[in-house]
Amino acid sequence: MTITFIDLKTQYKRLKPLIRENLDRVLDHGAYVMGPEIERLENQLAEFCGAGHAVACSSGTDALLLSLMAQKVGPGDAVLTTPFTFCATAETIALLGATPVFVDIDAGTFNLDPEQAEKALAALNHNDPGIHALPRSGFRGTLQPKGIISVDLFGLPCDYPSLTQLARKHGLWLIVDAAQSFGALINGESTCALGDAACTSFFPAKPLGGYGDGGMCFTRDPDLAGILRSLRMHGQGRDRYENVRLGLNARMDTLQAAVLLAKMTIFPEELDLRRKAALEYNRLLGSIPGITVPAFFQDRQSAWAQFSLLAESGPHRQKILDRLKEKHIPWAVYYPQPLHLQTAFTYLAYRSGDFPASEDAAARIFSLPMHPYLRSGDQEMIAGVIAQA
Ligand SMILES: Cc1ncc(COP(=O)(O)O)c(C=O)c1O
Repeated sequence: MTITFIDLKTQYKRLKPLIRENLDRVLDHGAYVMGPEIERLENQLAEFCGAGHAVACSSGTDALLLSLMAQKVGPGDAVLTTPFTFCATAETIALLGATPVFVDIDAGTFNLDPEQAEKALAALNHNDPGIHALPRSGFRGTLQPKGIISVDLFGLPCDYPSLTQLARKHGLWLIVDAAQSFGALINGESTCALGDAACTSFFPAKPLGGYGDGGMCFTRDPDLAGILRSLRMHGQGRDRYENVRLGLNARMDTLQAAVLLAKMTIFPEELDLRRKAALEYNRLLGSIPGITVPAFFQDRQSAWAQFSLLAESGPHRQKILDRLKEKHIPWAVYYPQPLHLQTAFTYLAYRSGDFPASEDAAARIFSLPMHPYLRSGDQEMIAGVIAQA
C-alpha cells in the first residue's frame, strides 16, 4: 500500500454517511451563504476552545487580515512576527501597509523567541538596529510597535506565558496565528483562546480541514467579535445595506461548515491518534545519529499538524530526501526559505544572517507523513530508510 503524506481518503470513508447527510441538508435548505451551519459551527468551536466567540471566515489568511483590520493596522505600524512561517502571516501585515518586523525563532521549538522579541522592541524603541536586526527600508519615518503575531508552528503552542507578559508590558496586542494549531493546548488552555484574537485555518491539510478554504477568528472580547463579524461582511452595520466601516467579503461557505461539523465528531480522537503517531516516530527516530526529533513539553500539547525533524546538515537532509523519494515515501520541507529572504519581502532589505536560527532550520528541516491513520509498520519502514541514509 502506498504511503500518503496526509490521508483524507480514509477519513472520508469513516465519515462518508455523515458528511453526505450534512451536505444534503445544505442543498435542501439552500442557504449557501451564512446558512444555519455557520452559527452552529461557530458555537461548537468557541465552546471546544473555551474562546468565548468564534467568527467563521473564508480562510486562515482572511482570519489574519480581519484581525489586523480590527486592530486598525496601517502604515507606520510595526508588527513583530517570525520569519519561519507560511507567507500569509507576514503578507497580511504588509498588505495593510504596516511593516513586518521579523524576530528569530527559538531553535528548540521553531516558534518566535520571546527574548528576541524583547530585543526587537528595544531596537525599535531606540531606533537602534545594533540591538536587533530591523527592516532597512520599506517604510517612512519611525516605526511604532503595535502588536505581535505569534505562530504555533507545526501545531506546537508558543511560549504564551512569556509572550502575553511581553505584550502587556509594552502595551501591544497579540494575535495568535493558530492556523496549524487548532486543537493544541498550553497549560490546559486552547491556543485559540489566547491573545486578543486567534486565527485558524481549515485548509484541507490542516488538523481540522474542510473540503476547500475556510478559517476562523476567536476572541474573548464581545466587542471585537462584533467588529470581526462586521468586517467579514463588507463592514456591515445593523443590516447588509448599512456600511459602517470598510470591510471584505470574507465569509465561510455554508457547505464548508457542514463538512467541518461532521469532521468535529471525530476530531478529539484524531488529535489523540496524531499524538500517538508522533510518539512512535520519536521512539523510532530519536536515537538515529544526526537526527533531531521534535520535543514533547510537559505544559504543551501539540496538534501535530506536521512532524518536522532536523538533519545534521543541508547535504545530510538531501541524502535523506533522495532515499525517501527512491522508496516512494512522500516528504515536504516547511520552509525552505525564511520570509526575510523571500523575494516578496526584499523591499524590507533584510540580509542573510539576520535570523540565524530560522536560516539554520530552513537548511536542515524536513517533514514526514503525518495523519491520524498512519500505520506503525509504515512508520518503521520510514525510520529504516532514514537510518540507512
Ligand atoms: C502559519 C500559517 N498561517 C496562515 C496560513 C493561511 O491559511 P489559509 O491557507 O487557510 O489561508 C497558513 C496556511 O497554510 C499557515 O500555515
